[in-house]
Amino acid sequence: MIGSRILQKMKKLQKNILDKTEKFVQEKLSIDSTGHDFLHVVRVRRMACAIAKTENVHDTFVIEMASLLHDMADYKLNDGDDKKGMDELRSYLLTLSLDNHSFDHIVAIVENMSFRKTFDNKSAFSSIEMEIVQDADRLDAIGAVGIARCFSYGGARGNVLYDPCEKAQDYTSSDEYKKTKSTSINHFYEKLLKLKGMMNTKTGRRIAEHRHRFMESFLKEFFDELDGKR
Ligand code: ADP
Ligand code: NI
Repeated sequence: MIGSRILQKMKKLQKNILDKTEKFVQEKLSIDSTGHDFLHVVRVRRMACAIAKTENVHDTFVIEMASLLHDMADYKLNDGDDKKGMDELRSYLLTLSLDNHSFDHIVAIVENMSFRKTFDNKSAFSSIEMEIVQDADRLDAIGAVGIARCFSYGGARGNVLYDPCEKAQDYTSSDEYKKTKSTSINHFYEKLLKLKGMMNTKTGRRIAEHRHRFMESFLKEFFDELDGKR
């Protein structure tokens, strides 16, 4: 009886923290045009919760918090500076009544989950919660939404749509990936088509298969049109 009352109180506290965090993120991302807009965060949170159900993870608080905050430390939103973003994130988290374990877990997920980090962090932190948020974020970079985000990002950066003289790169470090300006079409070969093979969960893999095929047929149409076949 007492146990369930404590549980109810905890759920209410968690809901308040999630609502507050949602507002905080919405304010920070309202002016973004690099594919990290607030609706991206909303989709990642929803997808992460859906994957969590299939993975038998019932405590979704850390997953929802990390989904909401996962892009806050991205250098693209912090004048090219990851550290500034992480410091701001820690300061924000300190204003909430989080237990130490949740605090550390959320920070670790946000710090380690990005695609760019996979070039360097061979033995980086991992947890099922991080794997789920990472799958949800990666799924949002592929399929129809991923294609739209890719061209939206390219446009916002003033990148070229396609250049037959520019070959796709095989990046070996996060710095190299960060500094290089690719065409939007090359981004498919440098990142988007690789994501299917990087999924952590069974559900992530299943959804990625479908979205991957859609991107492949998009690229086929694109090159058929360029070649005058259609
Ligand atoms: P992460 O945050 O995982 O390191 P990115 O910041 O690279 O990943 O990706 C955020 C969004 O911007 C994704 O939808 C991605 O496909 C898109 N994007 C990143 N770089 C490029 C690029 N050079 N051209 C087109 N789209 C890009
Ligand atoms: Ni993201």
